[in-house]
Amino acid sequence: LVRVTAPALLQKKRSAEPITALTATDYPTARLADEAGVDLILVGDSLAMTVLGYDSTLPLTMDEMMHHARAVRRGVQRALLVVDMPYGSYQIDDTSAVKNALRFMQEAGAEAVKIEGGRRRAALVERLTQAEIPVVGHIGLTPQSVHIMGGFRVQARQEQAIETLLEDAALLEAAGAIAIVVEGVPREVAARVAQALTIPVIGIGAGPECDGQILVFHDAVQLTFSQPAKFVRRFAQAGDEMLAGLREYCDAVKQRTFPADSESYHLSAEVRARIEP
Ligand code: KIV
Ligand code: NA
Repeated sequence: LVRVTAPALLQKKRSAEPITALTATDYPTARLADEAGVDLILVGDSLAMTVLGYDSTLPLTMDEMMHHARAVRRGVQRALLVVDMPYGSYQIDDTSAVKNALRFMQEAGAEAVKIEGGRRRAALVERLTQAEIPVVGHIGLTPQSVHIMGGFRVQARQEQAIETLLEDAALLEAAGAIAIVVEGVPREVAARVAQALTIPVIGIGAGPECDGQILVFHDAVQLTFSQPAKFVRRFAQAGDEMLAGLREYCDAVKQRTFPADSESYHLSAEVRARIEP
């Protein structure tokens, strides 16, 4: 088993081989994503919404993220493991950001951390990189900025914003980022970012010209409870499958067809003879 490394991702970009990535939130999702063969597994802070039921990523704490990251670590053998820095864990000052990132490296076995933002994070990306913490950037639609963006909306649709995005990407690369995620931008814009950078550009809602794609695990398998965004494709129908199975379970219990005799333990013949007259 050959583990995926940051240089291996760079090599994929150089040879124009698409990079596959998924989020994972716990041991079973990590096992499944890793066994499917994805190159990169992200413990995304979207787990605040998909598995913790918050309505944005903002309430997620360091401790909550640590709990999930450690469970994912136990399920990943091959993929490169990246952990999202939660909102509030890297915005206060660079020293506390390095401390928090080091916790994910040391206590959760992360191989890189991801932080949101372009030019305003360049100095921090450099600082983390100097501390031997590989960094994945994240630009475009950055969900931790939901209140600044005024909702989850497609970014970089006009000339000025496109220029800004391209500059942000270049600044993150220059600061030492090992890859960047570009989320929620027009396909044509993401294509220009991927073209302009040497490091891999992993897209979500950013069209097919990126160097790789990432999806939220629960979106990809339909383990969600609302209509998906336009960019989501359902590659499995896990929610429907599970609900149908659970309803069958309830029926079987009510009809006393579960458990069957074959699903029950039995006494030995000798003991049975002694206690049954
Ligand atoms: O939290 C997350 O799931 C993410 C991906 C969508 C890139 O940041
Ligand atoms: Na995230």
